Amino acid sequence: MPDLKSLSTTLGPVWPGIIRRYARFLPVTAETSVVTLLEGNTPLISVPNFAAAIGARFDLRLKYEAMNPTCSFKDRGMTMAITKAKERGAKTVVCASTGNTSASAAAYAARAGLKCVVILPQGKIAQGKMSQALLYGATTVSIEGNFDEALNIVRELGETGLVEVVNSVNPVRIEGQKTAAFEICDALGDAPDFHFLPVGNAANITAYWKGFREYADAGLSDTLPKIMGWQAAGAAPLVLGYPVTHPETVATAIRIGNPASWQGAISAAKDSEGAIRSVTDEEILYAYMLLARTEGLMVEPACAAPLAGLIKAIAAGEIPDGSLVTATMTGHGLKDPDTAIKTAGFSPIIVQATKQEVMEAIGLG
Ligand code: F0G
Repeated sequence: MPDLKSLSTTLGPVWPGIIRRYARFLPVTAETSVVTLLEGNTPLISVPNFAAAIGARFDLRLKYEAMNPTCSFKDRGMTMAITKAKERGAKTVVCASTGNTSASAAAYAARAGLKCVVILPQGKIAQGKMSQALLYGATTVSIEGNFDEALNIVRELGETGLVEVVNSVNPVRIEGQKTAAFEICDALGDAPDFHFLPVGNAANITAYWKGFREYADAGLSDTLPKIMGWQAAGAAPLVLGYPVTHPETVATAIRIGNPASWQGAISAAKDSEGAIRSVTDEEILYAYMLLARTEGLMVEPACAAPLAGLIKAIAAGEIPDGSLVTATMTGHGLKDPDTAIKTAGFSPIIVQATKQEVMEAIGLG
């Protein structure tokens, strides 16, 4: 048995958050006062049961970004955005959001002592995400419109010079988010063959491709993955080639019709010899439930878009046997309890408080 001292040595140093860990790749200096909740260092989880269930003859690992402090990948970009906003002396930060950016902005602003304003599409924010913005104390505005309209308003607010925009139109957000690609390479010892991820406003696909390239350029990985981005069929402007005025999908996180990082997404797919495609809500919900039931992993519906995409790619014979495939699970399933309960397809069995009734209810009576 190791004694306590050697045990703590084997556990290694405390994780310092993504800015300090990857400072050499980020626009910070030794003097930067970092606003962090120790985001990053999320697990890369093997999912052999799910892989077998979809007929994969390759190694599949999920980057489980649900393990970030506000339970989504947005914290990587937000530690950068709020650190820089504070450095510049901003007093108020503002963002449009489908729910996760607002949760993250509200949390990091609270941590930094900044005022936070979030602009949300009314009625289209999952309950868990709404609870976060409210409890962290953000000024929360719901517009009778969609994310794209909210982002247009935020851009105009930014032009007044009175507030700092922390959407991904602020380039430091993408700088922070690229660290997820670094972590994947660190965990695997190289880049994967394919990387799958959901696409909404298209910052994350842009960030991953930047991250994989920078790591290769620095000699820290040897290869580059094919980047496979997945949109929901009702909100697939990048697949259609033109903006969608009224995007609709059960995956509200990616209910976006005119992505801000349009060109970044197209370049990531083209330059990596990957693709951006779409899957239907039905396909999304199937993959969402299959992952939960085969692996005990709860993700939000948007994360199931790349999983549904993987099923399609397998059917099309696009993934060679023995490949190493990674996919980003961008947010936690608890963010959207309503969709979880609806998709599960059954309710608790209600019985009298007796052993007999419970036995009958579970089929042992
Ligand atoms: N997955 C989740 C869970 C998201 O919240 C988002 C985006 C994406 C994927 C897509 O990432 O926009 O960089 O292509 N959510 C933003 C928000 C739009 O406001 O929380 P993207």
